[in-house]
Parts: sequence; structure tokens; C-alpha cells
Amino acid sequence: MSSPAYAVRLHDLHPSPDDIRGDVLDGLSRQPKRLSSKYFYDAHGSALFEQICEQPEYYLTRTELAIMRAHIGDIARALGPRVELVEYGSGSGIKTRMLLQHLDDPVGYVPVEISRSALMASVERLGQMFANVEMLPVCADFTEAMTLPRPSRARERAVIYFPGSTIGNFDARDAAALLRIMRAEMGEDGAALIGVDLVKEPAVIEAAYNDKAGITAAFTLNMLRRFNDELGADFDLDGFRHRAQFNPMAERIETHIVSQRFQDVHIDGRTFHFEPNEAMLVEYSCKYSQASFARLAARASLRVTHSWTDPERMFALQCLERAPE
Ligand code: AVJ
Repeated sequence: MSSPAYAVRLHDLHPSPDDIRGDVLDGLSRQPKRLSSKYFYDAHGSALFEQICEQPEYYLTRTELAIMRAHIGDIARALGPRVELVEYGSGSGIKTRMLLQHLDDPVGYVPVEISRSALMASVERLGQMFANVEMLPVCADFTEAMTLPRPSRARERAVIYFPGSTIGNFDARDAAALLRIMRAEMGEDGAALIGVDLVKEPAVIEAAYNDKAGITAAFTLNMLRRFNDELGADFDLDGFRHRAQFNPMAERIETHIVSQRFQDVHIDGRTFHFEPNEAMLVEYSCKYSQASFARLAARASLRVTHSWTDPERMFALQCLERAPE
């Protein structure tokens, strides 16, 4: 390990912090009630997600990694030399490291992430490993348009990396809006590299979100435990269950937290009433076919230039470039 050739420059766009109390009170006041999947990821929730990735039924993470291992040479060639690698969310995991290792002389790494601590931890580790890659962390909400920092060395192109099928958490409208933002940020000759879970046998998809060990159920209900801890709510964790079902019309997993009985929950002196079997939507995990993903890209004036998949076509890494407006 040599010392980094560049100082780390933090670009802080001061994203507005989550208003967890306001969001929860608002979500529980709706009919039907709903809560944002972003509240899964406190420290315990993030640890549970890591465990989900290890479950035999949750094929997404290991399949995406297998695709990278099988095709990293092709991927690096397709992206070309002197890439400014922009990642939505901060990596440091094996996939980001593989890309930085195999790209031809990447000039910068730009993680875009709301959490300042996760951001700095990511560039701390990667800066040690890749001394010749300038670390340009951006503290921002990647769903909002911004101008990317420019590395000191001239870039050939910007490539926006969005792995993990996180795009599946956005409904069709929001996903198209996010791709529009990527299109603007990548510039004329840019590209995006996006991990997408593919539509397949519903039983296989449903099993991935209903692992036998019950880790996903614990992950889902952890959100209520978090609201008890952070907001002083009084959710009875035994009074609710996790339900994840594939909606074949919408081609997505819809995860709900379902009340098991009549019950009241209190937050800030307000009372929220639950009926037996009343379901709160907490997450979408949208699945795409090659055709439906190409249509989504087209809505944002992007086109698929490459698509790498595993032999069973479970998952795809899609490379997008600008199409004419
Ligand atoms: C991290 C959003 C890709 O939707 O598959 C895993 C989150 N939820 N199991 C997904 C998740 C339940 C995951 N993403």
C-alpha cells in the first residue's frame, strides 16, 4: 500500500436530513398506511440486510457478483480508459473494488451518499487500496440533480454505477426520473452501469423475500423496533408480520407489514388504529425483463448498449448510454 497521490475532497451539498418522525406520522395517517423502505437501514437493519445476502434463497447479490466475475474484462473494455466512476450509494464492497481494479486507469471515484460517515469510511478504505484514483466523495441525495465534481486528471467519460437492483425499490415513474438524472449527470459521452433483477418464475422470486431462516421477516419488522426506539412508539412486534408477494401484473415484490389483530399504536400522543389483516406497504422490489428495462431506459432517453447476465438469466448488469432526446 502506498499513500494516496491525491487529497480527499469532500463535496458537501448538505442534503436535508431524514424527517423520520414527520414521515412516520404522515405515513400512518394515510389510507392505506405506508412507510418508506429507507427506514429499514439503521445499524441493525443494515446488518440484517448483509445476512439476507447470505441466505440460500436470496440469489440477487451472489448472482450479480458471479456476473461481474465472469465478465469483468468485457465490462472494463466496454467502459474504456480514464473513467470517472460515480457510485450512487457508497461502496467499498467487492464489486466496487473489482471495477476499480479492472478499469483501465480510472481517474476518480465519486460515491454519492447521504450519510457522511458511510461516505468517508468508503473513501478511506478505497483511497488506501487505489492510491492513483482520486477520491471525490459527494454528500448528497442521489435522487436530486447535481453537478459532478471533476477529477484533477481529465476524464474520458463519467460512468454512473448503481448496483444491487436498488433501482427496483423505485416505482416506474421514480425509476424513470432517476434515469433522467443519471442522463444529465453522465454528460454527452457518459454511461450508466445498473444492476437489475430479472423477471422469472414467481416462486423463485417470492422465496428470495421469504427466506426459511426468517431473516427477511426480521429485517422488515426491525423498522417497527426502530420506531419504538427512536420515536417512542409502542408497536407490539408480535402483533405484526412480514408479507412479501409477487404482483405479476406490476412485476414486482410488494412487501407489507400486516397487523394480526385489532390494535392501537401511539406516537407523540397520537393514536393509530389497526384492523386485523390491515397491511402497510413498506417496499417495492421491481423486476424487469430485457424488454421492459429497455422501455424504461427509453423513457429517460437512454439506450441499452450492453447487457451482461448469468447463464440462468436471473440478473443483469445493464450498460446505458444517451439516446437522442
Ligand atoms: C437492497 C433494495 C436491492 O429489494 O432486493 C432485500 C432490499 N428487501 N430483501 C431488494 C431487500 C428485502 C433489496 N435491495
